Amino acid sequence: IPVDRIRNFSIIAHVDHGKSTLADRLLEFTGAIKRGHNQVLDKLQVERERGITVKAQSASLLYNYNRQEYLLNLIDTPGHVDFSNEVSRSLSACQGVILLVDANDGVQAQTVANFYLAFGNDLVIVPVLNKIDLKQADPDRVCGQLKSLFDIEPDSVLRISAKLGTGIEKVLEAIVTRLPSPVVDRNAKFRALLFDSSYDKYRGVLSLVYIRDGSICVGDSITSCHTKKNYEVKTLSLLRPEEVGVNKLVSGQIGLIGCNMRSSKEAYIGDTLHHSENDSVEPLQGFHPSRPMVFAGIYPMDQSQHINLRSAIEKLTLNDSAVTVDMDTSPALGQGWRLGFLGLLHLEVFSQRLQQEYGAEPILTAPSVTYKIKLKPTKQNIKDGTDIIFVNNPANFPESFKIEESFEPMVLGTIITPDKYLGPIISLCMERRGTQRSAMNIDNDRVMLQYDLPLCEIVLDFHDTLKTISSGYASFDYEDNGYQSSNLIKLVILLNSIAVDELSTIVHITKAQMIGRKLVLKLKDIIPRQMVQIAIQACVNGKVLARENIKAYRKDVTAKLYGGDITRRMKLLAQQAAGKKKMRMVANISLPRETFIDVLKK
Ligand code: GTP
Repeated sequence: IPVDRIRNFSIIAHVDHGKSTLADRLLEFTGAIKRGHNQVLDKLQVERERGITVKAQSASLLYNYNRQEYLLNLIDTPGHVDFSNEVSRSLSACQGVILLVDANDGVQAQTVANFYLAFGNDLVIVPVLNKIDLKQADPDRVCGQLKSLFDIEPDSVLRISAKLGTGIEKVLEAIVTRLPSPVVDRNAKFRALLFDSSYDKYRGVLSLVYIRDGSICVGDSITSCHTKKNYEVKTLSLLRPEEVGVNKLVSGQIGLIGCNMRSSKEAYIGDTLHHSENDSVEPLQGFHPSRPMVFAGIYPMDQSQHINLRSAIEKLTLNDSAVTVDMDTSPALGQGWRLGFLGLLHLEVFSQRLQQEYGAEPILTAPSVTYKIKLKPTKQNIKDGTDIIFVNNPANFPESFKIEESFEPMVLGTIITPDKYLGPIISLCMERRGTQRSAMNIDNDRVMLQYDLPLCEIVLDFHDTLKTISSGYASFDYEDNGYQSSNLIKLVILLNSIAVDELSTIVHITKAQMIGRKLVLKLKDIIPRQMVQIAIQACVNGKVLARENIKAYRKDVTAKLYGGDITRRMKLLAQQAAGKKKMRMVANISLPRETFIDVLKK
């Protein structure tokens, strides 16, 4: 297929606006799949359960328009705030996007974020309203929002129902007629942009690439601009959407390269691949790889599971290069790792996959963001430039007398809400130490707010709380916004006078009292009664802010059975033993596995 009959595009949408459904319809319509196959592109079990797309997947479609055959490369993008970097990855291979908006919900926070991502990348935007079959759908109103926010002309907006298949052909036509074909050079030397990777048990890492120039064949020798490593191309395939092996990929195409890369770290997102013999090629303009924002410790329940957990983490990170992994040891939990995630949902999805796909049930510690600390100058730290440190583990937070100034990561948050929830939402943002940047009406009764917010205040439960106070109507998205000076302290939790770093957290000074009180009460709730009394204390710089006691208690599950039925008694004791297995001894107290993460949730 000649280059002028190729189109590369993504569908971008707020979560649940129907992206996967539309992708399915496009695949059906072009004959790539049979009718009734739902959500082909959402492969992972977690994705199915949570109904969100986590990992970008792609497919190549053949479409006949005006009696000519076109190759449409659909690049699926994830639809959640945590994964917005995966959206920008995918966009780098596109010339246009379908901006899909629910005709009932209207423009939402991620619609805004996604629009600006596409707009900033100079992509052609095809606005499409979905779910026009719904009784409450109000397409005219949503067209008004698109006009006032993005200056999109109402007559350029398509109206479809992905569910019923209405208007799908119009979407395909718009892709062919409105989008430019990719700028490629088939005669130039081979260059490909690597924009995603996945792992296959037999073939190792498979790199998803966009062939920008030239062509590549099985057997070719290729080199990575970033790592300078050489590889032999073992397999090439197109995604239709299932893999179809081919011998050659040419410029304009999107496909998978298998070349015996052993780890996803070798498949560097944004890297340029070229033929080994042409070492003079210019790298293609890549994009910044994702930067983890949220960190948590991960530990085996007991050290006998260390090797299993390690292999599970290794396998899972092969498929998710956005997770960073460092070794870590904790006095209470032993040897483990510190993992970096894009956001809390990313963390939750990862731990859910560890359980579902590898049967691992590790302990996760409370998530933390990365703080920046300027230490009081000493001759030594000035000399070796260690006066500024980054800390993402409360255990490593310096004592306060050593700190000159501390900084916390900030985000710029966008909230879209019906105006009747404005009051509680503004209170929520203030309680989370937010500063309002702007407020704007996007139609008669909808408002868009922008806030500067500390990342740590939104990491855990901001999104959930926002949804609750707005009956699900407000939406939220955020982008990274650098560091800001802040008065931070470490809130230490003591169990029977032993400091447990794994339960400690870094907080803003104005919140220490309140959070200390809450943590202590929460722990009292979570920790089961034991043979000894447990004193739970929250301290700052040695000063106790809150304290609770859990009374001692002897738990004999068989006490009531008067020794009667022996099998029943054995069964109960076995159950109790199994129950105990899920406990972890810390400071001579057994803690349930979920303690470390649950303690910070409201
Ligand atoms: P993420 O993958 O999480 O980003 O969601 P998504 O945008 O892919 O949404 P998905 O396609 O999973 O659709 C979300 C819900 O909307 C599903 O329950 C669909 O059945 C429903 N839906 C999608 N399109 C339509 C439509 O045209 N009309 C109606 N009534 N419902 C639709």
